[in-house]
Amino acid sequence: MLIVFLGAPGAGKGTQAKTLAAEKNLTHLATGDLLRAEVAAGSELGLAAKAFMDRGDLVPDDVMIGMIQGRLESPRSDGILLDGFPRTVAQAQALDDALSAADTSVDRSIYFEVSEDELVRRLAGRSTCPDCQRAYHDTFNPPQNADKCDDCDEGLIRREDDKPEAVRNRLKVYETQTTPVLDHYRNAGKLVQVDGEQSIDAVQSDLAAAVG
Ligand code: AP5
Ligand code: MG
Repeated sequence: MLIVFLGAPGAGKGTQAKTLAAEKNLTHLATGDLLRAEVAAGSELGLAAKAFMDRGDLVPDDVMIGMIQGRLESPRSDGILLDGFPRTVAQAQALDDALSAADTSVDRSIYFEVSEDELVRRLAGRSTCPDCQRAYHDTFNPPQNADKCDDCDEGLIRREDDKPEAVRNRLKVYETQTTPVLDHYRNAGKLVQVDGEQSIDAVQSDLAAAVG
């Protein structure tokens, strides 16, 4: 099974991906998480990507396509859940090509629809575990112990790109570069829309119905 999660920054992709991947035994491939791990490790790729990420710009397509290609083969699970990739039409096309060379294709692409006001509220109050990347929210989804991850007990941090200026740019970049990807999957008859503005539990149950 190959599922793609689409939606604006803050739409709840990572929050829902963690639960769905555990329930369905899918490998969760989140390109933002992979990039942040490269930044934390101080790798050459991480150093090159950091400036793009901190500004809220996209990392160039060739880097992202190279990062995802090798990871599509033989996951030790029942399938792959892509979170944050593809986010340009060139990435979507490269994904289609890589999958079709392996005689497979995207099964479903889930689009989490959330209004801009709500996205801004969510990103302004988000804290993240630097270890497992689980996201929390000061009001909507607080951790059990203040500022500590429920899963790994790590101290939570605020992502650099959750600062207001970077958020504004991320929303603009999403609108211009990623919304055309919705049409790519809509035209292929693979896009399923979920109302991402509901509570986390309500989104989760709609998602379970959408994935089947
Ligand atoms: P990435 O890490 O993918 O960031 P993003 O797409 O901007 O999405 P977010 O992780 O910010 O939001 P989310 O939808 O996962 O929401 P979350 O579940 O955390 O990418 C970061 C950067 O890496 C990019 O800007 C780019 O530079 C680079 N990059 C990554 N992939 C790339 C690619 N393919 N090509 C090029 N560059 C790439 O939830 C958000 C908040 O809301 C949390 O606080 C959460 O607790 C809360 N929340 C979640 N659901 C609900 C709900 N239903 N109700 C209330 N609150 C909720
Ligand atoms: Mg995320």
